[in-house]
Amino acid sequence: MKGIILAGGLGSRLRPLTKVTNKHLLPIYDKPMIYYPLETLCQAGIDEIMIVTGGNSAGDFLRLLGNGREFGLHDIYYTYQEGEGGIADALKLCEHFAEGDSVCVILGDNIIEDDITPYVEKFKAQASGARLLLKEVEDPERFGVPELDGDRIVRIDEKPDHPKSKYAVTGIYMYDGRVFDYCRDLKPSKRGELEITDVNNAYIAAGDLRYDVLSGWWTDAGQFESLFHASQLVAAQRAQH
Ligand code: G1P
Repeated sequence: MKGIILAGGLGSRLRPLTKVTNKHLLPIYDKPMIYYPLETLCQAGIDEIMIVTGGNSAGDFLRLLGNGREFGLHDIYYTYQEGEGGIADALKLCEHFAEGDSVCVILGDNIIEDDITPYVEKFKAQASGARLLLKEVEDPERFGVPELDGDRIVRIDEKPDHPKSKYAVTGIYMYDGRVFDYCRDLKPSKRGELEITDVNNAYIAAGDLRYDVLSGWWTDAGQFESLFHASQLVAAQRAQH
């Protein structure tokens, strides 16, 4: 299984912090943001990773992460997303890298407390399909929100005005090789992006999507409040250890 970190976009919601640098290079407490998703994947034993960057300072990722040995990676690859085509548009750039293998995709601004190894193991035990990680949140309207029927997700709405559950779909996604076929069929959404939610809904339509509820805390860091909150969560975690 290979790992993909999506670290593109223009970070417009964080201007002027992102005027001259990439959002994923900003600090979260004592490390650059990109370290956290990288360590999340490494901890789960995923040691072949593609970083999709974009916008400003793409070369700084290479300067910062080099060949990935410092993180115990076997191989690290880099590619560049032009413009702001969305998460699924960035994912499309990884088809060659995946070579038909399954992938664990993590958004570069998603910071979590716990180890994802148990979920990755469950996904590996699936014959096919996708596996998502959900987390209960106070403001589901900011995220992709699942509608649940028993232990099944029947659909996911992207940033709904009237959320159908209290859960957010976190930015950690596990997919089989079909994900790139689904990405190819996507049409831009109202915000002009290829949405990962549409990919997930395609897996739901195929009856091949499962999920877990993530343990420990989870936050994104794409807005001033969540960026600040992420640093506070990490600082509190460091103080415990
Ligand atoms: C994206 C996804 C959304 C998901 C979120 C997790 O939102 O579109 O479904 O819940 O990441 O961080 P965005 O960061 O593009 O607002």
